[in-house]
This record gives sequence, structure tokens and C-alpha cells, in this order.
Amino acid sequence: MNNKKRHTVTAALPYANGPLHLGHIAGAYLPADIYVRYLRAKGEDVVFVCGSDEHGAAITLRAQKENTTPQAIVDKNHAIIKKAFEDFGIDFSIYHRTSSPIHHKTASDFFKDLNDKGAFIQETTEQFYDEENNQFLADRYIAGTCPKCGFDGAYGDQCEKCGSTLSPNELINPKSTISGNTPILKETTHWFLPMDQHEKWLKEWIETGQLDGKQQHDVSTWRKQVIGQCKSWIDNGLQARSITRDLDWGVQVPVECYDLPAGQAGGKVLYVWFDAPIGYISATKQWAVDNNKNWEDYWKDENTELIHFIGKDNIVFHAIIFPILLKTHGDYILPTNVPANEFLNLEGDKISTSRNWAVWLHEYLEDFPGRQDELRYVLTSIAPETKDSEFTWKDYQSRVNNELVAILGNFVNRVMVLTHKYYEGKLPISSLGSYENPGLEEQVNILLHKIDPIISNINDKIASFKFRDAQTDVIEIARIGNKYLADSEPWKKYKKGEENIEVAKILVFSLDIVAILGEVLKPFLPKTSKNIFRLLNIENANMKSYESFEKGHQINKAELLFQKIEDEAIDIQIKKLKNTSKKPLSNPKAKPMKDEITFDEFTKMDIRIGTILTAEKHPDADKLLKMTVDTGIDTRTIVSGIAEHYQPKDIVGKQVSILINLAPRKIRGIESQGMILMAENNEGELAFVSPEKTIDNGGEVK
Ligand code: 2FM
Ligand code: ZN
Repeated sequence: MNNKKRHTVTAALPYANGPLHLGHIAGAYLPADIYVRYLRAKGEDVVFVCGSDEHGAAITLRAQKENTTPQAIVDKNHAIIKKAFEDFGIDFSIYHRTSSPIHHKTASDFFKDLNDKGAFIQETTEQFYDEENNQFLADRYIAGTCPKCGFDGAYGDQCEKCGSTLSPNELINPKSTISGNTPILKETTHWFLPMDQHEKWLKEWIETGQLDGKQQHDVSTWRKQVIGQCKSWIDNGLQARSITRDLDWGVQVPVECYDLPAGQAGGKVLYVWFDAPIGYISATKQWAVDNNKNWEDYWKDENTELIHFIGKDNIVFHAIIFPILLKTHGDYILPTNVPANEFLNLEGDKISTSRNWAVWLHEYLEDFPGRQDELRYVLTSIAPETKDSEFTWKDYQSRVNNELVAILGNFVNRVMVLTHKYYEGKLPISSLGSYENPGLEEQVNILLHKIDPIISNINDKIASFKFRDAQTDVIEIARIGNKYLADSEPWKKYKKGEENIEVAKILVFSLDIVAILGEVLKPFLPKTSKNIFRLLNIENANMKSYESFEKGHQINKAELLFQKIEDEAIDIQIKKLKNTSKKPLSNPKAKPMKDEITFDEFTKMDIRIGTILTAEKHPDADKLLKMTVDTGIDTRTIVSGIAEHYQPKDIVGKQVSILINLAPRKIRGIESQGMILMAENNEGELAFVSPEKTIDNGGEVK
């Protein structure tokens, strides 16, 4: 950490189109929370902002699928996400929302300000348009085959199979996800951010940390993958990127557009990735109002460090695009660091929300009540800081049982139990000043040469965003405590009826180590840290001399900090994951389901098996066949548009399914008395829906 006097820490605003899973937590929120708790414990001035990202096509798409409104979707998910964060102990200064009026105004003003400065260009381009629904299709509304991996269900902005970022025109065989039709290209006008104009300063800033000739940050503290990804974007040449969309959910474009009639509002909104990072600013504004602070101190003062915690898919937005916006505005500071994490996989596969291959945070908290620190511990132990990592339930169990229970919990418990056994929990000597006394060489040695350097390492590592290593060091302190206790064997030294001063020295020293643990655990396992201080019956450890106890101090009754996780609990979770996950869609291009109907409505349709008796081409239409069919109850004429798929001679004698109570319709002059059911594949080829074995004509399809 640099020596800035104030800290603005942000964690990626989660999309309010679904709940949080462990990948989100390990990626951004837990490391951010650890960093903030560390700063707060040092008494630093820090604001920690986050909130729901409530705009974007993904949300409108979900609303459409669930037959509800975007507002209803975000209201529901915002509440779930907010509660899960609270229950898990992510201690934001504020958890805000981008649908709030203060955010709309902030984002809108930001856009206007940049637009007035000439920071954007307007361009008319061709974009995909769904003619059936009369709407431009946001990238998320277009699905097709991924050009990189061949996956059939890739979206216009991303392939969820191989993770590639895509643009809709790269998709092979694109289809509208709303109608299933092939979209047409149609002209529309949008605002673009000419990123290419910013290449020069961005390159210098990313590579050297210098901005306008001043050292702005130390590049050696930035993660390699963040610098690497930015460099590769810059080296490949930055391009103008559109920052508005044809959509009616979001922050309305606050200036007139020349492809809309003058004064007409609506139809165009800011791209969700334009307004979302501004959400950090609006959240800070709201927090400042609520807490009587000046928000500008946290965004416009060079003495403030700005840190963005994100997952790796957000790097370009936080380390290139948002800095361009901030710098162009002119008054704002730029991020001091963007500690992005790689991805967390789950049980041998990528986490996928669409396949429900995920452990949902709110479900974990329901299934393991009160065990948030166990999850915090495991997720930090496996944090994907430098490369992708993996969560498995077996590994979770073994880390909890072998590390939290067997090392940390065990040490604390043994010290507490022995102190009660020999002294009824009342300390016979003080630890204050005691390590200056002769006869305590071993303790002094352990404190000064083993524990003290570890504590300073923990601090340095947290300050440089190496949370995983830092937490390993915390456990190392507990290991040292355990070893000390085992080596010094107070149970062998204790003699009934004697003063037992040596035993007292061993136990009081051990209690000092427990107090140190309580302190260094604060950022990582806040609940456990609180429990330790409650058990020790002190507020804080003395971190200057590491001597925390007065003579006669009474500690509370021993309690286990952690319980073992049994095999059964793990088996339940593994089964749950496997049973609730969905296979990848076999046909992502399949049209969406029609509106639900009742069983009564279904039974109104009278579908029978019948046999085609004759078939001939319609005299006036190339695509139609005229057939007579035996329905078992009569013989009737049916006209059907299948002439391009079947030759008349090939279908005579075929058993098919017929909707016989469809009102007769005249088709090109011939009355059709029912409908033969056909199935259609992705390429538009038709096939009869025929019984799999011969059925008497007139047999009901039900
Ligand atoms: O990837 C995501 O989940 C985005 N909602 C993150 C937005 S971060 C920020 F810019 F707000
Ligand atoms: Zn792909």
C-alpha cells in the first residue's frame, strides 16, 4: 500500500439478474472485504462501495423469459444479493443500486459532460434487427455458433463455453433469441468512445504508472495478468466502442440523436458498461449524503487511492475504458490498482449459471448456518490470484477439518481448557512486561524471531493484494502455538498444590499468541476473531509488545471455534450440485416456449393417427400438397405446405398425426379439413410426426 491518506475501494457491481455464486465471491468480494477490513483495523479513512448493476440486455432478456418486468427482476435479485452479502459478512460502506435516481442523474451528467467536451463521436452503423418484433437486437439477444469453438449457443457478446468475447457479426448463423428468426441488418446511430485516441497515454500509464509526467502508481504492485491483458488490447490497437444501445431499459441518452425525431426521448440508453462503473461514484455520493462526508474527497483528491476489485472478465472496463472516462472528465483520480482475480472452477468444470453448475452463496448460508468464516477461509486458501483455481466440496471439508479445526481451533481450545483446568480461567501472572524477565528466552525467541516477522509479512502481503499467502501465514502462527504447547508440555510440569509458575508462564504466553491470532484474523475471519476476543474477554490484542493480559484477568469458558464437517454434509452438497445442474442445451436455437396453457386447453385439441390415402401437387401452388387421409372416423381432404419436402408418391400409405377438429380453412381454393402435424429442424426441413409402431387409424394422440 502506498501512503495515501484516503482509500476508495470498489467491488464489481454484480448484475441483478441472478444470485451470487462462489466464483463471484472468490473473484472480487472476499478479497475486497479483506483489504478493507485490514485498512479499517489500521484506522484508515476508507469507503467501500458496491451495488447492484441493474441495467443491460441480460436483465431485459430474463424479464422476457420470465414473463415479467425488468424492474421486478432487479428488485427481487437486489434483495437476495444484498442479504447474502450481509449474512456472509462483506462489510460495504454502502450497497447501492444503479436504478436509483442519484445514479441515473450522475451517469447522465457524466455522459453530458463528456459529450460537451467532444469526447465521443456519433456514427451510423448497421446492426442486427428483429423484423418480427420491430426492435434492434442487443448483443445478448443474438445467438449462434461460436466462431472460436463451434459451440451452438454462443451469444453476440460472449461464448459461455470457451469464454471468448465476441461481437454479434462474428457469430455463424446468427438468430434472434426473441423470435428465433435470422435478423436483418439495419442502420442505427450511436455514440462511440474513440478509444484509439487514448492509446498513447494509456500505454504509458499501464507500462510505467506515469500519467502526465507524474508517477501515479507503482506498476510492480499490479498483477501480471492485468498488465498483460491491457497491453495486449493496446498493442492490438484500440478501436472506437459504442457506448449507447437501442433499448428502453437503462439510463436514457441525455442528448438528442439525429436519427430520432427532434425532442423524442426513449429508445436509446447508455451501454450498461458505460453507466455501471459510474455506479461506484453514485454509490459514494449516496454514502456521503448519509454520512455527512464530501464525496469528492474520495474521487478527486490525489491523496486518495482508488482500488477496483474485479474478476478477470472485467479488466478492460476498469483498466482501460473507465480510466479513459475519468481522465477525459478531467477532475477525477485514476485507479491506483485493479487487483483482478482469475476464475474459480467448480468440481472439475467451469462455473455456469445457465447450466446451474454453481454453489450459490445464499444457499450455502442456508445449508451451513453460521459457517461463513469456514467458507471465507477456504475461498481465500484457493483464491485464484494468479491462475484459475478450483473449489471442490471434499477440499472444502479437508481444509476446514485439517486446518481450521485441527490447527487453529485446536490450539485456541487447548490453551483455554488448560487455563481453566489449572487456574479456573484466572491468570496467575501478568503477561505485561513479562518477556523482559530472565527465564523466558524461549518465548522471547519465538515472539521476536518467528511470530513478529510473520505478522509484518501478513501486513505486507495484504497491502500488496496477496491474500492467499497472507492467510497461510496466519495459520502458521497457530502452528507455532501448537508446537510450542506440545514441546513445553505444561501437563507434565503441573504439580498439584505447588505454585507452578512455569506452567503459568507457558499458558499466559500461549494466550498472548491466541490474542495475536484474534488480531491477525480480523480481515480474514471476522466472526472468529470476535469469538476469540469474547473468549479471551479482552477487546483487542496489544500489538505493540504482544503482551495482552494483566494478572488476575478472567477468561471466559472454552468453546470450540469450529466444528468438524461430516462426510454426510459433503455428500449432500455433491449430490445437490449434480442433481440440480442442467445439461448444456441440445439445441440452443430452439424457439422459446409459448405462453403456458391449461390441461383443459390442451384437451380441446383432437389429434388422431390417420393414414395418407392419396397425395398430389396443388394445381395452383408449388409449395402445397393436396391429400386425402383416413382419420379412422372419416376420409377427408387436407392441404399442407410440404411439397418442397416430400414427393406425393413417397407419402401414400404413411401414418401421420392429424389435428382433426381445426376449423376448415380454404387454402388456395381448396378446403383443408384439419392439419397434419409436422416437426421442423434448425434448417427448416420438415418431417411427419408419425407413431413409432402401427396404430389403428383414429387412435388418439394425448
Ligand atoms: O461482470 C459483471 O458482473 C458486471 N456487472 C460488473 C460491473 S463492474 C462495474 F463496472 F460496475
Ligand atoms: Zn466458444
